[in-house]
Amino acid sequence: MPRTLVKDALNATAPNDAILLQGWVRTRRDAKAFSFIELNDGSSLKGLQIIVDASLPDYVHVTRANTGASVEVHGKLVESKGGGQKWEVVATKFTVLGEADATYPLQKKGHTLEFLREIAHLRPRSNLFGAVFRVRSRLAYAVHQFFQERGFHYVHTPIITASDAEGAGNMFRVTTLDPANPPKTPDGAVDCAQDFFGKKTFLTVSGQLEGEIFATALSSIYTFGPTFRAENSHTSRHAAEFWMIEPEVAFCDLNGDMDLAEAFVKHLIRDAKEHCAADLEFFSKFVDKELLARLDFVLDKPFVRCSYTEAVEILTKSGKTWEHPISWGANLQAEHERYLTEEHFKCPVTVYNYPRAIKAFYMRKNDGEAPDRQTVAAMDLLVPGIGEIIGGSQREERLDLLKEGMALHHLDEKAYWWYLDLRRYGSVPHAGFGLGFERMLMFVTGVANIRDVIPFARTPGTAEF
Ligand code: 4AD
Ligand code: MG
Repeated sequence: MPRTLVKDALNATAPNDAILLQGWVRTRRDAKAFSFIELNDGSSLKGLQIIVDASLPDYVHVTRANTGASVEVHGKLVESKGGGQKWEVVATKFTVLGEADATYPLQKKGHTLEFLREIAHLRPRSNLFGAVFRVRSRLAYAVHQFFQERGFHYVHTPIITASDAEGAGNMFRVTTLDPANPPKTPDGAVDCAQDFFGKKTFLTVSGQLEGEIFATALSSIYTFGPTFRAENSHTSRHAAEFWMIEPEVAFCDLNGDMDLAEAFVKHLIRDAKEHCAADLEFFSKFVDKELLARLDFVLDKPFVRCSYTEAVEILTKSGKTWEHPISWGANLQAEHERYLTEEHFKCPVTVYNYPRAIKAFYMRKNDGEAPDRQTVAAMDLLVPGIGEIIGGSQREERLDLLKEGMALHHLDEKAYWWYLDLRRYGSVPHAGFGLGFERMLMFVTGVANIRDVIPFARTPGTAEF
């Protein structure tokens, strides 16, 4: 007999004389003549009530069905007499597949998120994390849907790379050399030519540069994969391993890029509202009371667009004292980003045209500016509660200016020969961005810490599981 998912049983339109369910016991309550079991199989937030009658021969097994045990139930789906649910299952056959002993750490009482992180191998069985990871799965699907429907091609960019896309120098080394006894060059340095790839390699911080290769062939592409950053940031929004979605579009400028970013974020929110309604309702009850209102608000209105120069003016005129002083040329810090989106504009804001000196080498230089106020066609999308969720730009398609940007950032042209070739052969204006998938999930769920929207967080000092 095929298995029925709890979700489908709960949505049934008619009783069913013979169904099979498999899942884990959330709670069990024993009365004199029967036991109630709440069964959850991860297909939905809500569990299904199972009634095991004491007259059933299998009733002898019920005492072994503790919270956390896995069970298999054959039975009849009938209309529930009790309140709270439409359907329940009266068991005809009841089997315990795997007992859970009394040390099972997920009991009915609420646990702190910190404690649940320590049991990341069991937390997906809790209501909160079941909901988070169902939404995560759904949104991954919605990412592909959004781009595929618009004619974008999915590109798998490499995870091991020899180039630093962001030029920020915070990359994890990949090597097979023996750390205790590496081969040396005559002058005593580690001889990377003898390493696995014959050169120094790293885990990628971004698939963008390779994405550009494909955009200048297939026109519109996107990547969606893990990226790695060895920044020693102990914040609620930084992880050393996170997933990024990076569209790259040929024949597109910064405005087109900002339009795409806005449509994309709205698509993901709309999709979650439509397909994860029960889970979002749960978040709005137990995680963030304003969540649903905020998501509706974000969907309804166009995002504000504000140049970096205007943003600095707003920040200096705000009368606030900043931990990080702000003036033209300084990077916007989290406190500034949050002021703009949470207090000043009170909605998502795309800040664009940043100083050239503080942004990546590949961003397109804006024309006609004074030498001390040069900007690039960069954009960051900031949202309330989190700050930056998207970073993107129009790319420098002019060979001479790209070389100039590389020199400004002290990059070795030779290492980027293939990237420069894209400007030698059929160069086109093009633009793209990166959305941090976990930050998007934080925004959609209201969950405040990045460690709680990724199955197994990689942060400084933690790589258990
Ligand atoms: O702004 P970033 O560094 O941009 C890039 O990597 C570009 N190559 C993207 C592109 O234009 N194709 O990163 C993009 C996004 C950020 O806005 C943020 O949401 C997320 O990636 N991000 C992180 N998320 C979690 N932990 C970290 N340490 C992150 N660093 C960046
Ligand atoms: Mg950024």
